[in-house]
Amino acid sequence: MCQSQYNQQTNQLVIIVFIIGIDKMDPSQSIEDFRNSLPITEHKQKIIEIVKNNLFCVITGDTGSGKSTQLPQYILDSQEILDVLKENQKKYDLQNNKKSKLNHLHEDNKVSVVITQPRRVAAISMAKRICYERNVSLGDDVGYTIRFDDKTSSKTHLKYMTDGILVRECLQDDTLSKYNVVILDEAHERSLYTDVLFALIKQAVKKRQGSLKLIVTSATLNTDQFSKFFDNCPVLSMKGKLYNVEVRYKPILMNLRIEESINIIMKIHLNEGPGDILVFLTGSEECEIAKNQCIERLQKDLENGVELAGMMIFSLYGSLGSEDQQQIFMKTPENCRKVVFSTNIAETSLTIDNIGFVIDCGYVKQKCYNPRTGMDALIVVPISQVQAVQRTGRAGRTQEGLCFRLYSKKFYDEDMKPHTVPEIKRVSLNSVVLTLKSMGIHDVINFDYMEHPDREQLLQALKQLYFLQAIEQDGRITDLGKEMNKFPLEPSYAKSLLTSYMLRCEDEMITLVALLSSEQIWSKPSRVRAQDYERFEECLKRFADPDGDHFSLLNIYYSWKRNKCSDGYAKSNFFNIRALKQGENIKIQINDLIKNIDKDVLKKFYKEDSMYLYYKENREKKDSDSKSKSNSQKKEDKYNEKFDQKNQKQQNPVLTQSDIFRLALASGFYYNSARKVQNSTDSYLLIYPEGNVVDIDPQSVYSITQNYPPHVIFTELGGTNQVRGVMRYVSQIDPFWVSPYIPMIKNVNAKRLAGLDQNQNKQEIIQKKKTDEEIQKEKQDRIQEIE
Ligand code: CDP
Repeated sequence: MCQSQYNQQTNQLVIIVFIIGIDKMDPSQSIEDFRNSLPITEHKQKIIEIVKNNLFCVITGDTGSGKSTQLPQYILDSQEILDVLKENQKKYDLQNNKKSKLNHLHEDNKVSVVITQPRRVAAISMAKRICYERNVSLGDDVGYTIRFDDKTSSKTHLKYMTDGILVRECLQDDTLSKYNVVILDEAHERSLYTDVLFALIKQAVKKRQGSLKLIVTSATLNTDQFSKFFDNCPVLSMKGKLYNVEVRYKPILMNLRIEESINIIMKIHLNEGPGDILVFLTGSEECEIAKNQCIERLQKDLENGVELAGMMIFSLYGSLGSEDQQQIFMKTPENCRKVVFSTNIAETSLTIDNIGFVIDCGYVKQKCYNPRTGMDALIVVPISQVQAVQRTGRAGRTQEGLCFRLYSKKFYDEDMKPHTVPEIKRVSLNSVVLTLKSMGIHDVINFDYMEHPDREQLLQALKQLYFLQAIEQDGRITDLGKEMNKFPLEPSYAKSLLTSYMLRCEDEMITLVALLSSEQIWSKPSRVRAQDYERFEECLKRFADPDGDHFSLLNIYYSWKRNKCSDGYAKSNFFNIRALKQGENIKIQINDLIKNIDKDVLKKFYKEDSMYLYYKENREKKDSDSKSKSNSQKKEDKYNEKFDQKNQKQQNPVLTQSDIFRLALASGFYYNSARKVQNSTDSYLLIYPEGNVVDIDPQSVYSITQNYPPHVIFTELGGTNQVRGVMRYVSQIDPFWVSPYIPMIKNVNAKRLAGLDQNQNKQEIIQKKKTDEEIQKEKQDRIQEIE
């Protein structure tokens, strides 16, 4: 965190860096006082009563009332709840003839609480906050688990985790025998995995006979649907105190939202009284740009002699490093104003105190399923009216506030939907469907969803899982599908990873998946700093690999490794050091997961896979050349050779290392392949759904080098509207690699996959009967033979 001040004597701008801990409170206020001042406090006893006496309950209250931080602590510290749970657990164990070793009730007489968050940042931040409030170390009594980052131990009684992680835990143990209380926090967000958990935990609670309880918490009062789904369970509403917030509409051109926000910030800073400023923008990159531009504007104003009080400027988004996040919660020093440029994460997930002003751009970057392409695309869409109200409310928690809406009242009334559409109705369901199938829930159409996704969406997921050979023609999960589900990854990536293992390029694929699971790899300088930006563009070109964006990512990573992971090297090339280090860490974890795959299943499957057979044919020679070398030596050689090999393709019929890597990638993404439209420079025709036209992302290496290959695959789809997609992360391929799979795409029968094709199913039964009869006959024949 830095604060800028202009030094009149030296005529220079001074950046003062503060190192501040997580204590954001007034030093005169004790932790106890702070906790007791939260609106939830007066409901403490009532909450304990409700939890004690019910299997399910819903708690609703404004953001910042203490649901995420205090509620789990009430449960953890309540003797009454412990007694009830112990009693129930005893009965459950007796009836089921078992005793869960992991359950803390048995081990150390303590309740085990898990609380889910839809966002990683929130899970980390809440866990750290509780550690601070209870004065304990992270990972002991209190911890968090997010994908590829586990800060818990066997001693942990209060676990914050992302909802996706709890879904995966259900996969291992559908009664969640480790836990006694599950809190599904932020239910109003209706994230995909929270929606799935509604049904899974409902089942688990019913099985556990009172030794597992569920609390659903929500920031909005619209809770009837929740209560109804959980057998009309009780709802506790906590009314918080909200001050009046004046709303001012200030419609602007959409692409000027950063400039306009900064203008408003400077006006507030000069003319208005105390109160921090929260600006809602659409994405992390936009927040970073706005932060940099705001610092530059401040510097300019100070240089021009404008007298300004101190300003602390932050950005806040999901992938932000955890140290950076914590600083946002610190108390603003006197005579200073805090400005936070945030994505919708500050809408309800994270509460920043003392906000007096909100600037709302009216848009959000959202994952939306594109039925034309069958994929999710991150697109910028108007927020809902509920979200607009939430954003406004952020200004009125501690004082009267002011909210600038960068849109018109007409836009609010006519272009914004009243409510946010739940994620389950607007994103790809591939991963969820595979997980449900792995849990033995075969009929995903009639699953107990609180709100049913569109049938078309489910059919699309089934089709794509079939393309990946994760399910059979009749929708049953395959052994390969089970192996794929061992990775907390989208099924396509899991498939590529498994193939890469067989094609012996798993280190590259693990690196790719790890880097794509980390923060943005480039640390982009502001365009205003022209020289830096020029150097940055040179770097983009230097690391751009003609084989595509995926291999370019690997180029960056391996060059950093070759330079001994030096921070200086990373900085001078505009690499995001944090992303590279995160990638390193994630690689270790994926490597561990790879150890758990069933090699026999892979061998059996790939023995007949056309891609694998093609690889075997064209790789064989190379293998025999290197047979005599040790494994580690071979690996070393592979890295060094890789970059030279790519250009040898023409002279050498043997597959290059880059070909093999893209071959493995294509095994998971072949239905995302496209060919260049004739006579066009950068438009491509998708093979699935056939005939759709998409463009290449301007940030792709192919756009940077203006060299568009005839055939490509892509792993992400973006775009500003849902009509025409933009391929992100693109790599060139040989169409021959994917052609053997095309018949699967052409002949797929979605209804049959979903068990909806009655005729086909009947035929199958008849066929099965016949086979049974045949088996009987065969037996008879054999008996006769023996006789
Ligand atoms: O869940 P809900 O929105 O009801 O409230 P909460 O997240 O439990 O926040 C209660 C209070 O704790 C607020 O004043 C937050 O600012 C504060 N808090 C914090 O200081 N640091 C965090 N990491 C989380 C919450």
